[in-house]
Amino acid sequence: MSTAATSLPPGPKGLPFIGSLLDFQRRPLQFFRDLERTYGGMATAMVGKRPVLFCFRPEHIRYFLVENPRNFIKPGTATGAGLKLFLGDGLLTIDGEQHRQQRRLVQPAFHKHRVDSYAATMTRYAQETIEAWRPGSVVNMASEMQYLTLRIITKTLFDVDSIEQTRQLGHAFDVVISNGPQRSAIMGRLIPSFSAQREREEGARTIDTFVYNLIAQRRKTGQDTGDVLSMLLAAQKNEAGAMSDKQIHDHVLTFVAAGHETAQNTLSWTLYLLSQHPHVRAKLLAELQTVLGGRLPTLDDLPALPYLEAVINEAWRFYPPAWRQARIAIEDFELDGYHIPAHTITILSQWVVHNLPDVWGDPENFRPERWDKQSGQTIPQGAYFPFGLGPRICIGMPFAQLETRLLLATIFQRFVPQLAPGARVVFQPLVTLRPRYGMPMRLDANDMLIPALQKV
Ligand code: HEM
Repeated sequence: MSTAATSLPPGPKGLPFIGSLLDFQRRPLQFFRDLERTYGGMATAMVGKRPVLFCFRPEHIRYFLVENPRNFIKPGTATGAGLKLFLGDGLLTIDGEQHRQQRRLVQPAFHKHRVDSYAATMTRYAQETIEAWRPGSVVNMASEMQYLTLRIITKTLFDVDSIEQTRQLGHAFDVVISNGPQRSAIMGRLIPSFSAQREREEGARTIDTFVYNLIAQRRKTGQDTGDVLSMLLAAQKNEAGAMSDKQIHDHVLTFVAAGHETAQNTLSWTLYLLSQHPHVRAKLLAELQTVLGGRLPTLDDLPALPYLEAVINEAWRFYPPAWRQARIAIEDFELDGYHIPAHTITILSQWVVHNLPDVWGDPENFRPERWDKQSGQTIPQGAYFPFGLGPRICIGMPFAQLETRLLLATIFQRFVPQLAPGARVVFQPLVTLRPRYGMPMRLDANDMLIPALQKV
């Protein structure tokens, strides 16, 4: 280890003893952006007794995630705090050699050609969901999208399709995520209320029962369906990658949790943004009408739908479901003239970096046109990282890109959802950026397309 004196960039003094803990906990979105505006590219805030470093420049994102990932692990992976309390030893919450080996093992299940084969299931389930919708009625779009994305992930990755189980599972995830101790990796131990703790434990039990039943059923049939679960079970038999039942459980849980929570947020926020930007909506509807003419989208249609892709890319910039990532340094490191000590926690925030005026020009505008290659906008590597970057980039990225496009296109074939009158849209920045009160939307029929659909 280096003997050079360590130094950290300046930041707010905060309150005696707790520093900026309250800002960090109660209004992190505003706090993070204020830090960048006040201190520039780097800042240090005391969260309780702990200094937390914030790095806001695209080159910093590259430094941590792409150029030096081996020096930075995730908070909680060593101590068992934070997300690890819930997800155990799944891919999101392991590090080092263990992570590299397990990632190699499951990677084939997420290769493009394999993910592409899920397209028909994605569209079919989306169609089934909207068939239950009635024009003019109001639905909680966040719950609808949660149910739909959960159904898709459990069917495609684990070959399970039970409507009742999916509903129970959705509720259990909601309870665990809203009452979870996920913040404690950085802020120290939070004592949840007794009732929150009890609810959380019940939710976690429901999820555990689901996952262990899934493993037991597949063992009983002994069938190799080539899906993620088959891969994990096959690895268990093989000495090199041997895994315990608990490890398989943790992987399954991680894929289900990570695979639906972020996708449902993407869809809720994108539908919300489209309801607030009539010009964008009209342009998207025109593209869908020209290319699909009212029929359901297929994988082969996607290259002909660039505006759909741009709308989703822009929604990921504007309201990133993963709004911040954290890392802990294994060894001291040098960055921008500071000599930062080992064990420092660093926050990298999509919420801030996706909104830097010198990179994006007009970040406050929701403008899918910026993703058009002809637009002249250049986006430096590290400025846009909704899925992370480097060796730990989201393994489910191709899955999410396919799913969100197909689902959005399918919904718009029949409905143009509008924010319900009186709806309160408020951020709830937990593990993901959720809408705190759900997303009540009125289901206006897509009059332009209904005649065409009837002909199909
Ligand atoms: C819009 C959808 C999604 C977003 C925005 C998203 C975002 C992210 C981000 C930012 C990371 C990196 C976290 C870090 O390095 O600290 C990540 C990792 C991960 N994501 Fe996703 N994700 C999405 C969908 C999915 C899906 C559909 C799956 C599974 C089917 C999935 C499974 C995972 C897993 C297992 C990891 C850990 C990868 C590793 O560390 O090797 N995600 N995701």
